[in-house]
Amino acid sequence: MSAAEPSSSRVALSGRRLLTFALALALAPVLLAGCESGESMPVTTDAAPRADIPFPEDWRFSADAEPVTAAEGMVSTTDYYATRVGLDVLEAGGTAMDAAIAVSFALAVVNPAAGNIGGGGFMVTRLADGQTSALDYREKAPAAAHRDMYLDEDGELTDRSILGHLASGVPGTVMGMWEAHQRYGTLSWEELVQPAIELAEGFEVRDRLARSLRSSRRSLAIYESTREVFLPDGEPPEVGDTFRQPDLARTLTRIRDQGPDGFYRGETADLIVAEMERGGGIISHQDLADYETAWRDPVTFTYRGYTITSMPPSSSGGATMALMAHILEKHDLAALGWHSDDMIHLMVEAWKRAYADRNQVLADPDYVDIPLEEMLSRDYARIRGADITPDRATPSDDIGPGLEVGESTETTHYSIVDRHGNAVAVTTTINSGYGSKVTVAGAGFLLNNEMDDFAAKPGFPNQFGLVQGEQNAIEPGKRMLSAMTPTVVADPDGELFFVTGTPGGSTIITTTFQTIVNVVDFGMNVSQSVNAPRVHHQHLPDQIYFENSGLRSAVVEALEARGHTLQERGGTSGDVQAIMILPDGTRAAHSDPRLGGTALGH
Ligand code: DON
Repeated sequence: MSAAEPSSSRVALSGRRLLTFALALALAPVLLAGCESGESMPVTTDAAPRADIPFPEDWRFSADAEPVTAAEGMVSTTDYYATRVGLDVLEAGGTAMDAAIAVSFALAVVNPAAGNIGGGGFMVTRLADGQTSALDYREKAPAAAHRDMYLDEDGELTDRSILGHLASGVPGTVMGMWEAHQRYGTLSWEELVQPAIELAEGFEVRDRLARSLRSSRRSLAIYESTREVFLPDGEPPEVGDTFRQPDLARTLTRIRDQGPDGFYRGETADLIVAEMERGGGIISHQDLADYETAWRDPVTFTYRGYTITSMPPSSSGGATMALMAHILEKHDLAALGWHSDDMIHLMVEAWKRAYADRNQVLADPDYVDIPLEEMLSRDYARIRGADITPDRATPSDDIGPGLEVGESTETTHYSIVDRHGNAVAVTTTINSGYGSKVTVAGAGFLLNNEMDDFAAKPGFPNQFGLVQGEQNAIEPGKRMLSAMTPTVVADPDGELFFVTGTPGGSTIITTTFQTIVNVVDFGMNVSQSVNAPRVHHQHLPDQIYFENSGLRSAVVEALEARGHTLQERGGTSGDVQAIMILPDGTRAAHSDPRLGGTALGH
C-alpha cells in the first residue's frame, strides 16, 4: 500500500469555491507524485461464489448462497407480494420501468413501514441502449416551513421533525410514478396501479410484515388514525390473517382513475389538509398542487473501468460514492485481502473524508450552489485522499470539509431488469419506520417524517447522527438532502452488469458502495456480495460501525491499534436488492436475507 503524504494531516482547502478548485488542480501534480490513477484490471465475476472470501465463523449469512437466476427479467424487492407484482408486469410484456411503477404502488400496501404514497424517492434507469436518467421525486418542505421550525424557545431541537404532523414534507411518490410513466410507460397507468388496489382490498399477512408491525406496535398506537389501520382490535395482524386497507384501496382507485390529480387535488388532497389541520401540520392545498418532480443528469463515474450511474443531489448518494471510489481507486484493495484491517482502514479513511464533504456542501441544487463538479473530479479526490496514512487513523476532528461554497432499516430499495436489458433502481422512503406515524384519516396512508433529513439545527446531529451544515438548512419548497443511492453499473465493455441499492439511513452510501467493491474488486457473486458483513463510517461520530459478529476480533484489534474506535451494532445494516448480469446474459439476483425479501425472474 502506498499513499502520498502531505505535510499536514488536514487537507482543508480555503478560499471560495472556484478558488478552491483552482488550487486543487494546481496542487494535484505535486501531491500525485508517485501515485497511479488506478484503473486496475477488473475481476470477471460469474454465478459461482469465491471460495477464498472468509466470512467470520459466527457470521449469520452464508458465503455460498445460490442466487436466483433467470434468462429474461428479474425483480428483487423486500417483499414477496411486491416482487410478484413486478414479475407479473414483466411477464405481461411490460418493461422494467412499467414494473417499477407497479412495484412502487404495491410496496405502499404490503410494506407500509417504508413503501409509500406519502413519501418520496429516487429512480435511476439505464435503458438497453445505454441511455441513463435520474428522477428526483423527493419530498419538498411546505411553503410555511422555516429554518427554525423544530427549535424550542431556548433554541434546542425538539422531536417535531421526527414525530407527528409537522415532520412531513410534501409527498412526491405519486407524481414521481406518473412522470416515470409519462416518459417510459408502455402498459397503461391503470394496469400498473390496479395490483396495489387489489392488495389493499386484502392480502394474507406473511412473516416479514407481521414482524415489522409487531416491533413498531407502540409507535403505531400513538395516533388514532394509524391505530385503526395497523392495530385493528388493538393488535397488529398476524401471519395468515387477511389484512384489509379499504381507505387505501379507495385512495389508490382515485390515483388509478385520475392520475396525480387523484392525490394532489380533490378528495385525497382534502383529506391530507384536514389531517394537517387536525394535528398542527402545515402542508396546504397549494403545496400539494405545486409539487413537481425533477429529471436530473445522473452522477456517472468510473471505478476500475466499470461505469457507475447513480443519483445526483438532492441525494448525496452518487456524489459521495464517486468521491470514495476515486480516493480508493489508487489502492489495490484486492491485494490487501477482503476485510483485512488494511482494507477496512483504507475504506474508512476514504469514507470519512467523503462524508465530511457530503455533510457540509451537498443539498438541494435548486436552492443552493453546490460544488458537484469538484466533488466528482479525480483531481479533487487525489488531494482529498492524499493525507491518508496506511497505519494511522486520521481523527475526524482533523478532517475539515475540503470543499467550500460560496438503526432502523425502513426505507426500501428495489432492482429490476427486463428481457430487453433495461434496468431500474429505485430507493423510496417515508424516512423512519412508519414515517411520522401519522396516517391520513380516511385516506389510509402514512405520511413521511422526511423533514428530519434537513439540518434542523445546522451543526447538530439528526436521527442518523449526521451532522450537516447550513447548505441543508430548511427553506420553503426545498428538498432535504438524502443518502439514498439507487445505482446501476456497466462493465468495462459498456454492458449492463449490476443493479444495487439499499435502505439504512446514513449507511446507505457505504452499504451500496461495499456491494460494488465486493463484486468489482473481489469478484464475489451477487449473493456473496449481499450476504457479506458490512462496515460503516460517516465522519461524525468518529466511529467504525460493524454488524453484529461481522468482524473477526483480530481485525477489530488491529484497527483499534491504528487509532480507530469501533462499535458493534446490535443487529444488521441495510436490505440490499441486487441483480447481476452474468457473462452469458443470465440475470442473477439476491434479495438481502437481513429483512427477508424475494427475488423472482422469468
Ligand atoms: O433519504 C434519506 O437518506 C433517509 N430519509 C433514508 C432513511 C432510511 O433509510 C431509513 N432506514 N433506515
